Amino acid sequence: MRLDKYLADMSLGTRSEVKDLIRKGKITVNEKTVKDASYQVKDSDIVACSGQEVSYVEYEYYLLNKPQGYICALEDKRHPVIMELIRSKRKDLVPVGRLDLDTEGAILITNDGHLNHFLLSPKNHVPKTYYVETDKAIPETAVELFAQGVDLGDFTAAPAELRLLEERKAELTIHEGKFHQVKRMFEKAGCTVTFLKRLRFGPLDLQGLPTGEYRSLSEEEINELKKDQPSD
Ligand code: URA
Repeated sequence: MRLDKYLADMSLGTRSEVKDLIRKGKITVNEKTVKDASYQVKDSDIVACSGQEVSYVEYEYYLLNKPQGYICALEDKRHPVIMELIRSKRKDLVPVGRLDLDTEGAILITNDGHLNHFLLSPKNHVPKTYYVETDKAIPETAVELFAQGVDLGDFTAAPAELRLLEERKAELTIHEGKFHQVKRMFEKAGCTVTFLKRLRFGPLDLQGLPTGEYRSLSEEEINELKKDQPSD
């Protein structure tokens, strides 16, 4: 990898800012000043800026508590996108799956393409738990209906666990992530979702993370997400 990309990826500045640092002789590789931005950094190289080692972190993993009104996309003409909430200079970060514009809650953002692909694969049934509010009372029969797997026309939802909290409030855990799945399941049960928030995505929990904020995943969380991922 080029030295300027290495430094920009590690958030030392934009590509032109890091070129400036290189030109000014602030960057050393194995304790020797390197003034060539196109220098190819090797795995064994020790890169430093003003004497401070800059080690390369290949992958970044964030859990965002998505607010309503943001789109899970890289760019959009009409609405703000969730990537605007992440203060990272990495250009290759993408959300793992999607939440609707009016849905809040847990969304994983990473540049680890293998993990992203693995987590979204239909073979991998990552449990996702949603807090749901509805326009009218949720019938008790919905518990059994969802547990058996609801026929939604174009597909039958896999068995899901519904926990009724109040007349019009519940938690639902599904093991897939089809388009508008939760809203469509509740429509089948005879009520309309008026508020939807994803509380958990696999081992990741929103606890203590305010809406609109994000945090890096811990080593344990990353390992837990990857635990069934085939090595290639
Ligand atoms: N199900 C939905 O209906 N909407 C979401 O945003 C997520 C799951």
